[in-house]
Amino acid sequence: MSEIESVLHENRSFEPPTAFRETASINDLETYREMHRRSIEEPEDFWGEVARELPWIEPFESVLDWSEKPVAKWFGGGKLNASAVCLDQHLTTERRDKVAILFEGEPGDVKSYTYAEAHAEVCRMANALAERGVKRGDRVAIYMPMIPELAFALLACARLGAIHSVIFGGFSATAIRDRVADGGCTAVITADGGWRRGKVLELKKVVDEALAGIDSVHTVFVVKRTNNEVAWDERRDVDLLAAMAGASAERAPEAMDAEDTLFLLYTSGSTGKPKGIRHTTGGYLVGTYLTSKYVFDLKEDDVYWCTADIGWITGHSYIVYGPLANGATCVMYEGAPNAPHPGRFWELVEKHRVSVLYTAPTAIRAFMRWGDEHVTRFDRSSLRLLGTVGEPINPKAWMWYREVVGEGRCPIVDTWWQTETGAIMITPLPGAVSTKPGSACLPFFGVDAAVVDEDGTELGANQGGLLCVRKPWPSMLRGIWGDDERYRETYWSRFGGKYYFAGDGARRDEDGYFWIMGRVDDVLNVSGHRLSTMEIESALVSHPGVVEAAVVPRPDDLTGEAVAAFVTASPGCEPGDAFADELREHVAKEIGKLARPADIHFADALPKTRSGKIMRRLLRDVAAGREVLQDTTTLEDRSVLDRLSAEGK
Ligand code: WTA
Repeated sequence: MSEIESVLHENRSFEPPTAFRETASINDLETYREMHRRSIEEPEDFWGEVARELPWIEPFESVLDWSEKPVAKWFGGGKLNASAVCLDQHLTTERRDKVAILFEGEPGDVKSYTYAEAHAEVCRMANALAERGVKRGDRVAIYMPMIPELAFALLACARLGAIHSVIFGGFSATAIRDRVADGGCTAVITADGGWRRGKVLELKKVVDEALAGIDSVHTVFVVKRTNNEVAWDERRDVDLLAAMAGASAERAPEAMDAEDTLFLLYTSGSTGKPKGIRHTTGGYLVGTYLTSKYVFDLKEDDVYWCTADIGWITGHSYIVYGPLANGATCVMYEGAPNAPHPGRFWELVEKHRVSVLYTAPTAIRAFMRWGDEHVTRFDRSSLRLLGTVGEPINPKAWMWYREVVGEGRCPIVDTWWQTETGAIMITPLPGAVSTKPGSACLPFFGVDAAVVDEDGTELGANQGGLLCVRKPWPSMLRGIWGDDERYRETYWSRFGGKYYFAGDGARRDEDGYFWIMGRVDDVLNVSGHRLSTMEIESALVSHPGVVEAAVVPRPDDLTGEAVAAFVTASPGCEPGDAFADELREHVAKEIGKLARPADIHFADALPKTRSGKIMRRLLRDVAAGREVLQDTTTLEDRSVLDRLSAEGK
């Protein structure tokens, strides 16, 4: 493969604001560089020290064992319990009565739990689970709305040493059945329903459907949230809140080996069945603890809100494990960002005085589209730091986030990482590193990231290539559940077992900053030039009349592949030939004629996964005029695709 040509030019740069720097725990570039150097050159000293900041039940004897590469072992001999790291350690400190979880439901109901209260809830839930036979090593599927009991469910499993497997609450019965079967789950925790855009999402009903014909599951624990009517199997179903009410608020945490599995989380690749990504206890906690501490620069009085769903890795690492291990106050919100009105997030920011906000580019672009007035009518003066994750963020959205949401005051941390990496890998440290719109900036401690060519040779400045990681890090996945060979094949075969590669393209600029160019599968080839679809999208979106764009290749006799663009126009912009021509010229001016889209399709919405990522592989079929025969079960809204396909005919 030749290198990927980078055509995106972005020269703006923002220093950490002085006021932010004054209180930041790492506040100059030199300190970051020295700590990073040490973390790479002396990883055992570096990570040993960090790990000792956590409460261990028994101390570890070694830090890293890489002899069974690519399966790392961290903190060998050490014993700990994830729920004790998140809760118990704070009970003997002033944090005992500090709010751990501040919940708001979609209908506006608010409930908060201090660390002491959360501890009691988790112990009660663990006892209720144990009462029905859930024990160490069992796999427990969790399918719930974003309510506090979801966070408690993760921690209750962890307390017992049971392995949780959270399935996002928007997935179908088939998706649940596949995951329950693959993991060999013996219990399920769910709710009667959850609130979504004013309606009840009937979760228990979906679970009942999923479990028809599966007999490995002995118990379905049901949290009553919406009080809709549900079918009840007396032998199998347990009213969880009732069981908790009668259970003890004490339960000793199980002493887990550092390398015992903490959870599975399924991620769908572009082909094949979903992979149960396996994370273990010690390394994962150390990684999420340290990244939360430094990337979000957590302070004792912060009100921290990560808007992800706990059904994704972002919610696991940055709603539950990382922030709670740091003793932070975490906001949890049940509903949609635009229900009952498009200013809902900002209303919550004002009401709860949120100081650190972590969200996704897809949400940011949606807010841009809905209009600034829904943001600005709420007071955002409490915000001091903004974060983003999940996709490359185009500079226009980054600038909007900075100027409109953050009033130019808040640094932005664009964090690159994956379900597989467990924790943030590439990110600015907000008090130390100048940020550039669209760049995830520099590697976090212990991360030896590089951009290489097909042979694994590191590329020079601004040459696009494959993003890989050359050394093990504590929170890395340990494997794929039940399929070690697939683990090796998927992540380690590209460079003959030498480096970790999980599919993204990137370039590094002259300052060593990383610019993620999206999935390498999304690269297109026009007349022999390999271009990143994401960069063309970014050029399109920089036009004021465009809010969102997806670019895919379409077969072309002349050029091999031609650029096909799907564009959502800003309100008030008239989609049509004239506007399409204007956009073509805009791209030609921004990037070059080479990247000028041959086809422009206007769309009121783009097909996305349930976690908000644009599904370009489906758009490829639409662009080529083919019927979409691929798996579409992870689509958020199937009708978006149907509309696009119909227009193409
Ligand atoms: C993409 C989410 C650019 C990337 C934590 C990665 C990003 C995939 C960024 C993992 C970012 C995530 N900039 N791209 N800041 N963050 N990605 O497993 O392609 O849901 O490989 O984990 O999202 O998605 P996942």
